[in-house]
Amino acid sequence: MQCVTGLFCIRGVFPEMKSEVLKCGRRKAQDAQTAEVRQREEKAMTRTHWCAVMVVCSTVWWGMFSMSHHVSAFGGDAAKGKVIYQAKCVTCHGPEGKGDGPIGKALKPPAGDFSSGESKTKSSDELQDIITNGKPKTAMMAWNKQLNEAEIQDVLAYVLTLRN
Ligand code: HEC
Repeated sequence: MQCVTGLFCIRGVFPEMKSEVLKCGRRKAQDAQTAEVRQREEKAMTRTHWCAVMVVCSTVWWGMFSMSHHVSAFGGDAAKGKVIYQAKCVTCHGPEGKGDGPIGKALKPPAGDFSSGESKTKSSDELQDIITNGKPKTAMMAWNKQLNEAEIQDVLAYVLTLRN
């Protein structure tokens, strides 16, 4: 209210109230300053807020990432692997993994028999390496372009069930 009266003072309506106007002006400046400080504080708050959000998000993301990594490191899903096997491997390795698929048995060497004594001496890491990178001088190709890491783990899990 005082400030409104102050405006009249500036206009010379109430020249005797000039000091009031000055005070009023000062108060306005103060208000502006406080507003600026408040704004700055708010900005800082927003920054802190975002930092917290980022930290929480990255922690959650990292947790999920390492969990998914563990899942694949400790064996894939044989049920999912079976679907992949039926689509991509069965024509060579055969429905029971004996290397007797229609194409597999005609090859030289024939497609691997997962239940053979020789195949069983290989660790799952070795089999995974063959699935991923292929086997030189055989028809076994590298699958790392067509299957992602998780899918290779899944199909490996299924191959291991065909060992018996
Ligand atoms: C074109 C035919 C063909 C296809 C398709 C094929 N393989 Fe093979 N695979 C072979 C041949 C040939 C070998 C080598 C056998 C040998 O070393 O005597 C082999 C070897 C392997 C071995 C190693 C076996 C061992 O004991 O050394 C694994 C594991 C394997 N294949 C898995 C797969 C999987 C999983 C797929 C499907 C994603 C697949 N193969 C698709 C032909 C094929």
